[in-house]
Amino acid sequence: MCPLPYQLLFSESWWPVIYQRTIHFPSMNEVRITGFGGSLRRGSYNRMLLNSAKSLMPEGSRLEIAEISAIPLFNQDLEANPPEPVRVFKKSIKDADGVLIVTPEYNYSIPGFLKNAIDWASRPYGDSAFEGKPVAMMSAGGRLGGARAQYHLRQVFVFLNMKPVNLPEVFVMNPQTVFDGEGRLKDERVRENISELLSALVSKCRENGAMRKD
Ligand SMILES: Cc1cc2nc3c(=O)[nH]c(=O)nc-3n(C[C@H](O)[C@H](O)[C@H](O)COP(=O)(O)O)c2cc1C
Repeated sequence: MCPLPYQLLFSESWWPVIYQRTIHFPSMNEVRITGFGGSLRRGSYNRMLLNSAKSLMPEGSRLEIAEISAIPLFNQDLEANPPEPVRVFKKSIKDADGVLIVTPEYNYSIPGFLKNAIDWASRPYGDSAFEGKPVAMMSAGGRLGGARAQYHLRQVFVFLNMKPVNLPEVFVMNPQTVFDGEGRLKDERVRENISELLSALVSKCRENGAMRKD
């Protein structure tokens, strides 16, 4: 007597079980998030915030950080054939299921370098990398922990047709007491706040039908 019929053993439905549970390869349904932002200064609290999100991603998800520091000023003459740093940035967003933006507040709004990167990746018209993607944001520093910058960013998401996570909000006030000298998160309440936001983002990606097939 044959213990397992040949067709059953080699049927495609068995492979995810063997693949995921026995060998512990990454799940084929892993949610990929591209994160960007921070500020360009050494010692940026927002960069620390972005880095700390990496280890707080829920199971079955992954955060990759995209660099925006080398992106030149937007020039619409070049949007159809953009410079290499823009190409790389735009691809990392297109390949992701969702987006995490970490922004300081500059003059009650979004810093220019961040808006510049968003403008590049949203163009040319009809080929935006952001179309229909779930997005979450966090901010650190300033009097209100960057709240006013976040509300301006939400306005930008309307035209980009993104799907923002509404709650929880992550506004890190007094970041000098939240991170240690090595830039590591040391505040448990902020850690929980970030974890909740990331879980909400990943759930939104799953709802968005973002289960990756490759
Ligand atoms: C150009 C500039 C403008 C700023 N404007 C504001 C502001 O409008 N409101 C505020 O609360 N903080 C403001 N700040 C303070 C920053 O939000 C704060 O220093 C923050 O920690 C900067 O982010 P980073 O630590 O990631 O560099 C400003 C800082 C700079 C450099």
